Amino acid sequence: MTTELGETILAEKEIRARVTELAARISADYADKEPLLVCVLKGAVFFMADLVRELTIPSELDFMAVSSYGSATDSSGVVRILKDLDANIEGRNVLIIEDIIDSGLTLSYLRKNLRSRNPASVEVCSLLTKPSRRKVDIACKYVGFEVPDKFVVGYGLDYLEQYRNLRFIAVLSEEVS
Ligand code: PRP
Repeated sequence: MTTELGETILAEKEIRARVTELAARISADYADKEPLLVCVLKGAVFFMADLVRELTIPSELDFMAVSSYGSATDSSGVVRILKDLDANIEGRNVLIIEDIIDSGLTLSYLRKNLRSRNPASVEVCSLLTKPSRRKVDIACKYVGFEVPDKFVVGYGLDYLEQYRNLRFIAVLSEEVS
């Protein structure tokens, strides 16, 4: 089985325009709140880097790395924290930055975990969402695009760690060779 890039579903220009829109909304909503943007490694790095540079308000960045127990396709919903935040988030306005919400299990766990640390607020900003794959309901205040239930890569999203550096998002198709 080999893989190859298929149809581009989000072009670089579309992504850039949407990131600018989201940044404008976040800048308005968080004026005077100095949000702490929490990037969930690794996929969201690219989105966060572009988003934060469009913000017109002061903000801080922090990073978390998590891994789910079990295989990616059969997630148990139990998430292990591989790298925790540097910052104490008590009283802070936290905005979790994700590249994609699939089953929703990662975010559901993360949000619960961060809420237990007594922040002023916890919201989610995800570039992509695949609602058809949802296992748990997750309120996401800022969403870039809804994508169909296909394997997508690029702009941070990988297949075996490859394709993250693409400036666009495309479907990965499998071919029997
Ligand atoms: C992806 C994505 C989310 C999670 C979403 O990360 O960045 O964190 O999966 O899936 P869920 O909604 O089903 O929980 P991944 O584990 O692929 O790690 P990566 O960002 O390092 O590629």
